[in-house]
Amino acid sequence: MNAEDDGLICPDVGSWAETKYRLLALYDELFSTGMKYKWDQRVYIDLYASAGYGRIRGTKKILKGSPVLALGVTHPFDKYVFCEESTDLLEALKVRVARIAPQAQVAFIPGRCDTKIAQICEEIPKGSPNNKVLSLCLVDPFDFGLKFETLKKLSAFYVDFIVLLAIGMDANRNYDHYVDGASPKIDEALGNTAWRDRWRAAGTRRSDFRRFLAQEFSISMQSLGYLEQPLDRMKLVRSTEKNLSLYYVALFSRNRTAYKFWDDVLKYSTDQTSLWSL
Ligand SMILES: C[S@@+](CC[C@H](N)C(=O)[O-])C[C@H]1O[C@@H](n2cnc3c(N)ncnc32)[C@H](O)[C@@H]1O
Repeated sequence: MNAEDDGLICPDVGSWAETKYRLLALYDELFSTGMKYKWDQRVYIDLYASAGYGRIRGTKKILKGSPVLALGVTHPFDKYVFCEESTDLLEALKVRVARIAPQAQVAFIPGRCDTKIAQICEEIPKGSPNNKVLSLCLVDPFDFGLKFETLKKLSAFYVDFIVLLAIGMDANRNYDHYVDGASPKIDEALGNTAWRDRWRAAGTRRSDFRRFLAQEFSISMQSLGYLEQPLDRMKLVRSTEKNLSLYYVALFSRNRTAYKFWDDVLKYSTDQTSLWSL
């Protein structure tokens, strides 16, 4: 998972990102290998790709980011689609990809994934009975700023999602603004406004809001035909400094096989002597 400084842009990441990367690397490996002979093409989509490398804040330690981890699996995906809002970060990613995986088929999409979703969907090879295409899509925004509508458009294809629900950082800090204010942010992330009534009716404590939102997100994904993902099968990643909860990492698939891989990942991602030396 560690990388050498290559002089290109390396955005700061928290030290807890190591947990995220361990989990993603394991899942990418299991998914890309396990689905290789079941599907004709496997596609990896990163909606919030960043630069490919990140530096742990306040240190010199550089980690491979999600696009580079996905490029490094034993049985590479047949195609990669990387979307990133920042031009500088995307340019750095392009240079890294050309060096690390020059043979990979990669589409780079500059801009916001929500406005570029049609272009992203066009990059997914057309499926047919003789050409079955399965995609794995990573949704990794900084906060709870994802838009359910974007995932809904992708769900028209065979797509499994790994979603980082960064609600610990965002929703707790902005609770009043989101719940009592007029902010549409959570409405857009969940794809409905009915959550507000359900939250009031639940009458639970403010400290339960994070758990409530994660469960609501799972309900929204179920409306697209995805299997239920209960809280205890989401990975809660906490900051290493104050042990504050930060985000849930959740898998959403319509297929039970994916959840077998996920269970392995949950088991080994906390094990320091993990399956592979990454
Ligand atoms: C948490 S980082 C992603 C980290 C990356 N997945 C990794 O693990 O290496 C979020 C990235 O999304 C970008 N971003 C923010 N909003 C975006 C949007 N709507 N569409 C695409 N990229 C966005 C930011 O510039 C940032 O690089």
